[in-house]
Amino acid sequence: KGLRVQDKGFLNTAVIRSEITYIDGEAGVLRYRGYPIEQLALHSSHLESAYLLIYGSLPTREQHLHFETEVMRHGNMHVDSEEFFRSFRYDAHPMSMLTSAFAMLGSFYSEANPSLQGQKLYTNGDKESLATMDRQIYRLIGKATTLAAMAYRVRQGREFVTPPVGLSYTGSFLYQMDHLGEEDYKPNPVLEKALDVLFLIHADHELNASCTTVLQTGSSLVDPYSAIAAGCASLYGPLHGGANEAVIRMLVSIGSPENVPAFIEAVKRREKTLSGFGHRVYKTSDPRSFIVRKTADEVFKVTGRDALLETAMALHDAAMKDEYFIKRKLAPNVDFWSGLIYRAMGFPMDFFPVLFAVPRVVGWLAHWRQMMLQDGGVKIWRPRQVYVGAGKREYVPIEKRG
Ligand code: CMC
Repeated sequence: KGLRVQDKGFLNTAVIRSEITYIDGEAGVLRYRGYPIEQLALHSSHLESAYLLIYGSLPTREQHLHFETEVMRHGNMHVDSEEFFRSFRYDAHPMSMLTSAFAMLGSFYSEANPSLQGQKLYTNGDKESLATMDRQIYRLIGKATTLAAMAYRVRQGREFVTPPVGLSYTGSFLYQMDHLGEEDYKPNPVLEKALDVLFLIHADHELNASCTTVLQTGSSLVDPYSAIAAGCASLYGPLHGGANEAVIRMLVSIGSPENVPAFIEAVKRREKTLSGFGHRVYKTSDPRSFIVRKTADEVFKVTGRDALLETAMALHDAAMKDEYFIKRKLAPNVDFWSGLIYRAMGFPMDFFPVLFAVPRVVGWLAHWRQMMLQDGGVKIWRPRQVYVGAGKREYVPIEKRG
C-alpha cells in the first residue's frame, strides 16, 4: 500500500521528453538544439538563440527579422503598470518586484488562457492557436527587459522611460536602465555585446528548479505569465539564480586574498557555503563559466578590473586544488564570475538575479511551448509521496487534551 521509493530532489526522475537542451555533466557539454554553447556565444545573438530554443531551428534572415521586430514591438508597458511598481516599499528586492510583475502582466491578457474561456487549448497545426501562443512569447520576452528596468528605476526614485526604437535587445535594456535624457544615447558597444553573450548563455539550462517550476505550474493549464512568475520565484533562491548575488556578498565578506584559506576551512567545517561552486549536473567545470570568464576580461578593459577579482581568483585557485572540493567534484558554475561583470558594469548586487531571470524567460517559454504542444496533450504534474505520518487516530476534544 502506498509508494515506498522516494527520489529526494529528483536525482533520478525524468518527467518529460525534451528536444531543447542537452547537457553532459561529466564532459562539461552544453548544447542548445544540438549547437554547442561555445559556438553560439561566439557567432549568435541572444534573440537568434531564443528563436532556436523556442522553435527548434536557427531562423532564416526573414524569420529573424520578424521575431526581433515582434519582440521589440512588445516592449512597451501599459501606463497603469507604473502605479503597480510605485506601490512597492522603497527597499523592495527587485526579484520580488519582477516575480509579482510577471503575474500582474497576465491580468492584461485574458487571451493567454484559452481553456479558462472555454476555448480550445493551444494546438499543434492550428494556425490561430499557434499565433496566440506566439503573441504571449513575444510579449513575455519583449516586456521582461522593460519590467526589469522599471524595478531598477523605481528603487532609485527615477522616472520610467519608454523602450527606445532602433536599438538591440540588450542595447534597449541598457538604455532603459541608464537613459540620462540624451537624445542620441548609445550604449557602450562592448558592454552591450557582453550583456548579449551573458543573456545567451543564461537563456536555458534544461530542467533546473525554475524551469521545472514553470512546467509544474503550467501543467495545470494556467496562463504562461503565472507559470513564469512561479519560475521567477524559484530562481530567486540562493541555491539557484540568487547565487550570483550570494557570490558577491561572500567575496565582500572575505575581503581580501589573505582571508581565503580561513574561509575555505570554514566551508569544510560546513559553517559556510562556497557560492558559485557545485552543480547538480556538472561534475566538472560548467562550460558557461569559461565564457563568462572570457567576457569578464572584455568588460574589464572598458570598466577597469573589479576590486574583488583578486579575491575571487584566490578563492577559485584554492578550492580547485583542495581535496574537499576535488573529492566532491565541485567546480565553478556560471554564477561564480558573472556577478563580478555585473558589478563592474555598475549594477547593484541585488539586481544580479534579475539579470539571470530576464534571459531565462526564453528557456522557460521554450519548455512551456514544447509541453503545451506535445503529442497526447498535457498531463497535470502530480507527484506522489512516501507517507511516514501517524496511522488512523481518534479526534480528542480540546478539554481532554493533556
Ligand atoms: N560549497 C561547499 N560544499 C558544497 C557545495 C558548495 N558550494 N556544493 C556542494 N557541496 C557539497 C555538499 O555539502 C555535499 O557534501 P557531502 O556529500 O559531504 O554532504 C556534496 O558537495 C554534494 O552536494 P549536494 O548539495 O548534494 O549537491 P546538489 O546537487 O544537491 O546541489 C547545488 C547542487 C548547486 C545546489 C550546490 O552545489 C550548491 O549549493 N552550490 C552553491 C550555490 C550555487 O552556486 N548555486 C548555483 C548553481 S548553478 C546556476 C543555477 O542553477 O542557478
